[in-house]
Parts: sequence; structure tokens; C-alpha cells
Amino acid sequence: IKQETLLALDKAQDLRAWDAVRVATLGKSASLTQKLKELGKCPPELRKERGGILNKLRDELTQAIETRKVVLEEIALNEKLSAEAVDITMPVTVTTGFLHPLRRTIEEITAIFGTMGFKVAEGPNVDTDWFNFSALNIDENHPARADHDTFYLPSDPLNGQQKVLRTHTSTVQIRTLLDQEPPIRIIAPGRTYRADHDATHSPMFHQCEGMVVEKGLTLGHLKGCLVDFLRAYFGIPHLPVRFRSSYFPFTEPSMEIDIGWNRKTGELGGSSDWLEILGSGMMHSRVLANCGVDPSEWQAFAFGMGIERLTMLKYGISDLRSFYEGDVRWLRHYGFSS
Ligand code: PHE
Repeated sequence: IKQETLLALDKAQDLRAWDAVRVATLGKSASLTQKLKELGKCPPELRKERGGILNKLRDELTQAIETRKVVLEEIALNEKLSAEAVDITMPVTVTTGFLHPLRRTIEEITAIFGTMGFKVAEGPNVDTDWFNFSALNIDENHPARADHDTFYLPSDPLNGQQKVLRTHTSTVQIRTLLDQEPPIRIIAPGRTYRADHDATHSPMFHQCEGMVVEKGLTLGHLKGCLVDFLRAYFGIPHLPVRFRSSYFPFTEPSMEIDIGWNRKTGELGGSSDWLEILGSGMMHSRVLANCGVDPSEWQAFAFGMGIERLTMLKYGISDLRSFYEGDVRWLRHYGFSS
């Protein structure tokens, strides 16, 4: 029995086979168990000696079986560990997302104006007619309203106020003037909406507003600030910048700003052609007064730019619609790893 059991234990390569040996050796129907049972039938003179031998054998086998169990358990554990181990020699494939080029441009604009002391301000996409138009000196009959292709929303049932999707970020000028005490330097990047859709217009697009309210501000400050910004953004130190007299209801005087480029090649920085890039002006005294700021004490200038436009020019993106299609191949090409 002893030889047989030790051999079987040796052969048992896993805990299942080991358990079969255990049952066959120490179980109820095992021959050793039977023999121990039959001791009672033995003549008393033989019983003592036989019992001693059988019990010793049972102890030895129990010991051997337990020892084998420990060994097999260790083997099983090692197998489990090696199966679950991470193979650090495997090549790593990491898929990370990309910054959308518009987000990247907003971050660049924020960083450049940040060095000039501008903070970021925000306003809601759904705003009232008053914030979008009236407060900005565009009253109900003003022809400029027609240019904005406004999305009108149902009026507020509580106060009857006309709601609109903001057509420009200039709403944030008003909100900031009502919220903060001058001096103020803010930029306000965000979404804007106009009912217009073709290869160069999208019903949703992005603008960035800027506003400075200080004492003794002049047109010279406005010009210096925007020339510095444009040259920093495009990374062209001598980028030609032209200020062209224009009209906005909320600024007086108003100027549109053009940068030099080559229309044929699309190359920026040349001086053969001009490209309009920004609207700006000294804030109209009526707008300041609408917000409780005394225009004889404080001067202010404001500007607004299209973020899609700035992005398309810098990275040579030709179709406005590609910004919103979410094509992963396009994002991989024009996006930025964060
Ligand atoms: N809000 C104007 C537009 O959307 C841009 C602008 C902003 C012009 C601030 C002057 C001052 O066209």
C-alpha cells in the first residue's frame, strides 16, 4: 500500500489527481480503512501489533499526502501568476485624443492676450434681444439687425423678453460691464449663431470678443494691442496690418483690420493683397452709459474676431464645414496632441 500510494502521489500532477489518491488511500472504501475496521475481529493478541502497524502506516501516508498537497498548491499558484502576469516586452499601443483645431486656437488666443493682462469672460449662448442688440446701440428699427440673420426663440413666458441665439460675442461686453468694476481687460471666446449656411458660413461658429475699459485709452492703444496680437498669433514679426475705417453701431470710431497676404498663393505676410480679419473700435459712449459706466471718466475699446477664420488661415484649412464633421482622419491631421 505504501509503495503504491507514494507512486500515485508522485504521478499526481494537479490537485484533482491528488484528491483522487487521497480518497483511494484514506477514504471509507480504501483498503487501509477497511483493514483498520476489521481490527475488531482480530484475536486480541494480534490486534495490538497489527493495529500499531496499520496506524503508523496511516499516519505516514497522511503526512505524505499533505506534503504533496503543499507542493501541488504551490505549482498551481505559480501557473496562475505567470498566466496573469503583464508582459512588459509587448509593444505598447496608446490611443489618445486630439485637441480640435478650434480649441487649440482659443487656447492660443487666450495665452497671447493673457500675457497682456486679459482674463477670460463668458456669457450664455441663449441670450435676450436686449443683450444681443439693444444694449449695444442696435435698437429695434436699426438696419444692422437685418444683417445678423438671427435665430429667434420663443419669448420668456415670465417677463415677455425676446430670446435669441447670440449672433455675436459682443453680448459679453454688456454682461461684463454690468458685473465688474473698471478697469477691465477681458476676452470672451465662444459659440455664436446665424441663420446662414454655405461653404463659408455655418449656422454655428465661434468668435472671440475683446474689451478694455481704462482711463485715458486711445485709438493708439487699440492699434498697438491688435498689431501685437496678430503678429504673435500668426508668428510673423512684420506681418502688414491695415486699419480701415468702418461702421459698427456699438463703436465710434469703428475700424476693420486687414492683414497682408498673397491672394493667389494664400501665403500670409505678403503685401500684395489685404484680407479682413477683425472688427474693432472705441466703444460707443451710449453703450457704456447703458451699462452705468460714465463715458467721460472711462474710455474703452472692443474688438471681435472669427475663430474659424483665424484657424483656417493659420493651418491652411479650406472648407469651413470640415470643422464640424468630426471626421477622425481630419482630426488626426489637423488636431493637436494635448
Ligand atoms: N460683433 C461684431 C461682429 O460680430 C464684431 C465687433 C466686435 C466689432 C467688437 C467691433 C467691436 O461682426
